[in-house]
Amino acid sequence: MECTFKIQFENVYKDFEQKQVLRGLDLGICDGETLVLLGRSGSGKSVTLKILLGLLRPDDGKVFVDNQEISDLDEESLFPVRKKIGMLFQGAALFDSMTVGDNVGFALYEHSKLPKNEIREIIRTNLAFVDLAGTEDMMPAELSGGMRKRVALARAMANKPEIMLYDEPTTGLDPITATTINALIRKTQKEYGVTSIVVTHELESGFSVADRVAVINEGVILEIGSKEQVKNSSNQFVQTFLAGPK
Ligand SMILES: Nc1ncnc2c1ncn2[C@@H]1O[C@H](COP(=O)(O)OP(=O)(O)O)[C@@H](O)[C@H]1O
Ligand SMILES: [Mg+2]
Repeated sequence: MECTFKIQFENVYKDFEQKQVLRGLDLGICDGETLVLLGRSGSGKSVTLKILLGLLRPDDGKVFVDNQEISDLDEESLFPVRKKIGMLFQGAALFDSMTVGDNVGFALYEHSKLPKNEIREIIRTNLAFVDLAGTEDMMPAELSGGMRKRVALARAMANKPEIMLYDEPTTGLDPITATTINALIRKTQKEYGVTSIVVTHELESGFSVADRVAVINEGVILEIGSKEQVKNSSNQFVQTFLAGPK
């Protein structure tokens, strides 16, 4: 596919002790697209996101963001790269002892020099964006699982990231809440123009938010393309995976 790559993985390898997790991962994500990385549990999806965030180092291969190689940067040089990236972690843990508003504004209060009233305005805007206007003073324990996920999304967006990473955003949610979260992922792309990677093992959710789909297994990409291309893949594993559990 012809596009400007926002993110590129080139022949990336990662082992843990004796276990090979990524085995020559090649993956390009186009500027502004939502790429869904589909694969069963343990296939290396979360490790791929952690490498992009610089939380893990590849053993071999290269990772680029905006054509800048990030795989060999030290912590200090990684900082401006990380600022471009918002991450919705699996589980989306909030700080239980803080209000919703303080959760959303946490990174800005800690790491930015923005005045408090501007931070409050960002919190207000982001909570309205996820349809939780006016919940600033509530505590996480008062919210449903779906609402907590939306607060976590508002928090991940606080820095106005160019890139959003979603790790299993709908896993464990009921179908209606999952649909709401998927709609928010689309809305985030549409209104902010972000480039997104959505990692999931859930076929239906994955296909509903994707511009393109990549199927990963045992640390390599088996197929990548439009939903149609992936559905018509000649790869046997891809077909078995798409057919679902028997
Ligand atoms: N920090 C770590 N130390 C050791 N093994 C790990 C670590 N992180 C992940 N793994 C292993 O790597 C494999 C892939 O993990 P992961 O990327 O989390 O899979 P998933 O596709 O389910 O997100 C798993 O077998 C996991 O146990
Ligand atoms: Mg995972």
